[in-house]
Amino acid sequence: MKYLIGNWKMNLSIGESLDLLEELKKSIDDYKPLEVVLCPSLLALMPVYSKNNGYFSIGAQNCFYEDKGSYTGEVSASQLKELVQYCLVGHSERRQIFGEKNTDINLKVKACLRNNIKPILCIGETLSQRQDNETESVLRDQIDGALMGVKSDEISKVIIAYEPVWAIGSGLVPEERDLNIAIEIIKTQIAFMYGNLKVPVLYGGSVDGENAKDLVSIPQLDGLLVGSSSLNAQKFAIIEEIIKN
Ligand code: PGA
Repeated sequence: MKYLIGNWKMNLSIGESLDLLEELKKSIDDYKPLEVVLCPSLLALMPVYSKNNGYFSIGAQNCFYEDKGSYTGEVSASQLKELVQYCLVGHSERRQIFGEKNTDINLKVKACLRNNIKPILCIGETLSQRQDNETESVLRDQIDGALMGVKSDEISKVIIAYEPVWAIGSGLVPEERDLNIAIEIIKTQIAFMYGNLKVPVLYGGSVDGENAKDLVSIPQLDGLLVGSSSLNAQKFAIIEEIIKN
């Protein structure tokens, strides 16, 4: 696996974020083949960036799609590019709570690419979509919508995180068989759109030190996106250790 991403969401004060950064530096050694990406809250991005000294990669949790202008309360990919190499785009919490549609997500993906930030495109079906056997069409639509107009020479900078909505924060993780089916759907859709070009596919949703052992044994997965277990240095380091070994 090549990626381990920690999504701190709307947690931790600036001080707590810096404490976690220091603890993580002590618990996670510089292991180059694995890209460890921390995604602090927007508030903590700048202080984490300045104290990070290049130790970890840094990601934003969201961005706006225009580069600048009268968009009160928003922060653009163009502004973020000095601090981050990655940006989560289309997380299910953005889709569900803030009403982001595929068209918004598409503009955000393009804004990231235009500003040399790698978008981590989050996709996944809800429980009812899963129960209605709509997983395949939902994933295909989300990929198709988010990547519309993204050219072949840009696709290598895109990462896809498969995060079934029902698995996020629930303690539930898909069965290996279902996970493999979802990964296959994603790879097939990318192949349909981009031929031989491939994108890394990560899994996210209730990843912890217990289930990480099974997840790392899935060869088609290129990494993990971790929410609540990334807020604790020991728990995050255990997952990193499992990936390394
Ligand atoms: P979780 O969150 O690990 O707390 O389920 C994952 C995510 O939302 O990215």
